[in-house]
Parts: sequence; structure tokens; C-alpha cells
Amino acid sequence: MNPETLKQEAYTDIEACNNLQELEAVRVKYVGRKSELTLALRGLKDLPLEERRNAAPKLQQARKEIEGMLASKEKELASSKAEAKVDLTRPGTRHAFGHLHPLTLMEKEVVDIFTSMNFSVIDGPEVETEHYNFDVLNIPANHPAREMWDTFWLKGGNDSRSRKLLRTHTSPMQVRYMETHTPPLQIIVPGRVFRYEATDASHEINFYQVEGLMVGRDVSLANFKYVIEEFLKKMFGPKTEFRFRPSYFPFTEPSVEVDVRLVGGKGEQSESLRAIAESRKSEWLEVMGAGMVNPKVFEAAGYNPEEWQGFAFGVGLERLAMLKYKIPDIRLFYSDDLRIINQF
Ligand code: DAH
Repeated sequence: MNPETLKQEAYTDIEACNNLQELEAVRVKYVGRKSELTLALRGLKDLPLEERRNAAPKLQQARKEIEGMLASKEKELASSKAEAKVDLTRPGTRHAFGHLHPLTLMEKEVVDIFTSMNFSVIDGPEVETEHYNFDVLNIPANHPAREMWDTFWLKGGNDSRSRKLLRTHTSPMQVRYMETHTPPLQIIVPGRVFRYEATDASHEINFYQVEGLMVGRDVSLANFKYVIEEFLKKMFGPKTEFRFRPSYFPFTEPSVEVDVRLVGGKGEQSESLRAIAESRKSEWLEVMGAGMVNPKVFEAAGYNPEEWQGFAFGVGLERLAMLKYKIPDIRLFYSDDLRIINQF
């Protein structure tokens, strides 16, 4: 075997390779374990000393050069493979764009309307203490009023400041916020809340509320009525019918609930809203609780109730979205059914 011609042949074969598989076959052929060159190198030890001295460097040199040629060809093939991936003439692939969930859209709308009326947007913890969720809101332990909130308790804790639960409403943020801020103030607190209860078309075990709180020296129920009317009309249109109904909450005095008309009256009629009305056996859907902040809540926050007064409200986001988008069942928001979701 002549190392010079071997190198020539190897060079020709390597240059002819179009891909890495072909190159691998050429590598085996020229420098593999059973190749002519490897066998010749291995046979060196059987040659007479003089011949060995003459042949060894030439064979080793040939091996080194062939390996060098293989390596540079490999580099070339690997990089051209990467280039081949970018084919600028190929038609583009269509990307499916996501979109916001109807509840997110609803929250944004609520936030937009209230910020336009100079309310600040505040966030609060979903895991709350018994103290803030109940005690400071004038709902003492063992008081029957606690039964208005079906509660998920967490393990542990030995007093009301350490016992934890999944907040049953966004109202705990009223006191949390007032403890660290001085009045006058006007805030909304959107957030997720949790109830340990059976689900149906208008109840879920978790849902969203937006809490509202406005405190000043002479903020009155008339101010509440104006703000909420503004809000509902901006949200649902100027023809929206709603009503205030006397109610009871431990943390407000007096307390009201606000209902929006589902069917009947002068408004537009809809199949879906009729379905909600039928399942609730009422032409109205309750969307929020509200009232004038109870002096006991101000005291718990360290405010002087002789000096400050204000209103608070808690509105259910799903219920607003059901009305606005005419969705007949609250469970559809959490069902991941794309036929619903993709309409937004
Ligand atoms: N937190 C009440 C609930 O979840 C709703 C509510 C009622 C909030 C009256 C308020 C309020 O701020 O003043 O049922």
C-alpha cells in the first residue's frame, strides 16, 4: 500500500460525500479498525527494523492527514445542514394566537371604569387569617353570621390571627388597607375567593369578586348610589335596569344588595338570561352586596368612626360576565370548553 495514493483516494472520496452518513462510511473505509491503513500500522511490528523505520512515519502521517480531512469535511457538512433548515422560500406556518379569558376581560372592564372614577386598584392575599376574614368585619367566632360564608379552613393555627383559611370574600382587604393608609381613600380590590359549597348554575366553589371601599368625612349612601349607577350603566348600557334591596351584612349598616334585571322590563331579552332567570326563579340577578361601613370595622382598622364614614361593596365578577356575555351557567367559565372560550 502506498500512503500517497491512499491519501489521494481518501481525499477524492471525502470530497464526494454529501452528508454525514456517507462521510462515516468513508471514515470506516480509510481509518476504521479493519481499514488497510490500520492493518498496515498494526503490522509494522512484524517488519524488519529497517523497513519499519522507513514505513512507520509515512503511515502515521497519512493517518493524521486523512483524519484532518475527515474532520474539516464533517464541520462543513454539519454547518450546511443547519443552513438548509432555513428555507426562506417556504410558505409560513400559521400561529394560533391566544386571547384573554372572558373573566379577565371582565376584570379589565371593571378596573377601567373604576379607575376612571379615581379608584386605586389593590391586591390582597388569597390565603387569609380568620382575624381579617371574619373578626375585624364584625363576624365573631360562633356567631351565626359566619354561616353566610361556607369556609375552607387550613390545618394549624391556635388563635384567630394564626388560623388560616381560603378567603371567602375580598372584604378582608378593607381593614388590611385601612390599617396602613389614612383616609380619605377610594379603592377596589379584584381577586379570587373560595366557598365550600355545592355548585349550581350560579354558584361555584371559587369565583372572583371586586371589593370597593370609599372613605371620607361625608361619603354617603347617595354617593354609593351614584357610583354604582355610573358603573352599571357604563358596563351594561344606559338602559340597564337595577334595584337596591335592603339586606344584612355584619360589616355594613345599613346594608343593601344590588340586582340587575335578567328578563322582563324594557331591556333586550335573551334566551340565555331567561335560562338563568328560570333556574333562579327570579327576573333579577343579585350582583353585589354593599352598604355603609359599620363603625366597628373602622374601629378595628384604627379609624375614629365619629370622624370617618364611607361605603363598601363586593361585586361578583362571574355574575357580571354572565349578564354581559349572556352565559347561562357559571360553571362554563371553569370548564375549559373551547366552544365557549373561543367566542371571546
Ligand atoms: N363580602 C360580601 C360577600 O362576599 C359582599 C359584600 C357585602 C361586600 C357588603 C361588601 C359589603 O363590601 O359592604 O358576600
